[in-house]
Amino acid sequence: MTKLGRLYSLFDSVELPENLPYTQCSTWELQFLYLVGRHHLTGQGQIVELGSGGGGSTYALALGLSESPVFDARKGRLHAYDFFRVGKGTFASEKFFDSGHKPADDDSFLDDFKRRLGPFLPFLEIHAGDLWQTSDPEDTTPVEFLHIDIAKTARVFRCVSERFLSRMQVGTVVLHQDFAGPRLPWLHHSTGALLPYIEIAGPPIRSTLAFEVTKPVPADVLKRITEDDYTVDEKLALISAVQDRIDRDHTDGIPFKSVLELSKAYVAHYDGQHRRAWSIAKPLQSDEYLSRTRADHFEQLRKAYDKEPSFLNKLVRKTVGR
Ligand SMILES: C[S@@+](CC[C@H](N)C(=O)[O-])C[C@H]1O[C@@H](n2cnc3c(N)ncnc32)[C@H](O)[C@@H]1O
Repeated sequence: MTKLGRLYSLFDSVELPENLPYTQCSTWELQFLYLVGRHHLTGQGQIVELGSGGGGSTYALALGLSESPVFDARKGRLHAYDFFRVGKGTFASEKFFDSGHKPADDDSFLDDFKRRLGPFLPFLEIHAGDLWQTSDPEDTTPVEFLHIDIAKTARVFRCVSERFLSRMQVGTVVLHQDFAGPRLPWLHHSTGALLPYIEIAGPPIRSTLAFEVTKPVPADVLKRITEDDYTVDEKLALISAVQDRIDRDHTDGIPFKSVLELSKAYVAHYDGQHRRAWSIAKPLQSDEYLSRTRADHFEQLRKAYDKEPSFLNKLVRKTVGR
């Protein structure tokens, strides 16, 4: 078991303050962030959070770091990246404002974030804006820790991979917060491509998969991940490899084998193969968890399939069009 895996036995020891900032992470995930900060990280490499939102996850991690016997708050830094504003395409919620909604004249919740993170500001470095603008393409500093709660689109994931995953070293810890999101298959097949070089800490913690790098990741693997240089079939095989490693989450609430199967449907869907996507997704409707929580996903995939002309229609169109 990796050192990271041992943290699972410490969940019961964590008592987070009641006045934690609003967060979209579960209590389990916050406890794990605290534990990683308190018992695992050193601050020798960069500690990075991608997608801090209103600061709930940042707070839990920073609290752990502040109580760590080895993290030196005078030297170590926690880097927090986010738009820190609401608006089209940001994926930020108005709940990140203190008031719970956006004031009429301001779309930024950065001041609210700073107020909440007050005790930790001395070791917090805030990068406000679009990740493609606020991250440094020249920075090669090793990353010790990555909390990834930002990769909601393939475009953003490309930045995460090019500028952050590329700085992983042996010992780097990664937490993928959106691992239970079938619409984000890049998280799943990239993890499949990394499997020979990582050790998964244990069952996902609710939606979060945690892993530690155990062997240097070859540059060509990272390049392929960044450039999304895999065929649909290769991506499905990589996701299958992840399915072989994980099952239900630590709280027994999320069946990851089914979630990852639905993620495969999205690989085909994003490639325009709607018939194939629906043939993967359709049987999953009988999965209790997916039918309860992902009805909108099934609807999206079925609609795309319904719109796709059948083989016969395609043939007729081709013949008539000739
Ligand atoms: C799910 S929220 C983060 C939730 C937070 N970790 C918590 O504890 O509640 C995702 C965040 O990613 C940020 N985000 C998404 N795309 C981004 C981008 N391209 N650049 C910067 N931030 C981005 C959004 O602003 C949003 O706050």
